Amino acid sequence: MKFFIDTANLQQIKEAQDMGILDGVTTNPSLMAKEGITGHDNIIQHYIDICNIVDGDVSAEVIATDFEGIVKEGEALANLHEQIVVKVPMIREGVKAIKYFSDKGIKTNCTLVFSVGQALLAAKAGATYVSPFIGRLDDISSDGLSLITDIRQVYDNYDFDTQILAASIRHTMHVIDCARIGADVMTGPLSSIEGLLKHPLTDSGLEKFLADYRKTNS
Ligand code: E4P
Repeated sequence: MKFFIDTANLQQIKEAQDMGILDGVTTNPSLMAKEGITGHDNIIQHYIDICNIVDGDVSAEVIATDFEGIVKEGEALANLHEQIVVKVPMIREGVKAIKYFSDKGIKTNCTLVFSVGQALLAAKAGATYVSPFIGRLDDISSDGLSLITDIRQVYDNYDFDTQILAASIRHTMHVIDCARIGADVMTGPLSSIEGLLKHPLTDSGLEKFLADYRKTNS
C-alpha cells in the first residue's frame, strides 16, 4: 500500500518524508488556500517545492472545467516536473481529458469520486489513480469504506490498471480498513499515518527495557 500525505504544508511533508515511508503527496485548491498559497506563480512554485521534498507522485489539481482548459492547464502542470500527476474532477469534460492525457502518457488522478459508476468511468478513460472520498461520504451517513470495497471488486473483475487512491481519510482506522480492503494507496493527514505508530504496550515495554538496562549498566 502506498502512503500519500494530503496536504500542502511543506513542514508536514518533510516530516512524513523523513520517516522514510512517504510515497507521494496529494493537494487540492482548498489545501493550497489553507497554507496561504495564492496567485498562479506562487502556486506553481509551491508544486515544485513539494516535488523537491518528496520522491513520488504529486497530484496538482486543474481549475478549468472545460476540455480545452483542462488539457491546457494539465499539460502545463505535467511539464513542471516529472513527478506531477494531473488531478482532474469527475465531470464529463474531465473524463474526456483523462482519456486524452492517458493517450499521451500523462499521469492523472480522477478526483471527487463518490460512486462505483464514476470509478468505472475513470478506469475506462485510463486514469492512473481514482480518488474515492471516504470521509466525505461518512460525513453524510453513507459508508465510505464500502465504496472502496465495491470499486476493488469491479476493478479486479476486469483487471483495470487504475489504482484506488482512498482519499478524504480522516483517521488511522480508515488507513487500516483501506489496507484490509486492498486500496492501492491512501492519502490522509500526517496524524492518520502517525496514529499507526501508537500502542501503549510498545511504550510501557520500551520503558521497562530501558529501565532494566540502566539498572544493570550504571
Ligand atoms: C484528495 O485528493 C483530497 O485532497 C482530499 O483527500 C479531500 O479530503 P477532505 O474531505 O478531508 O477535504
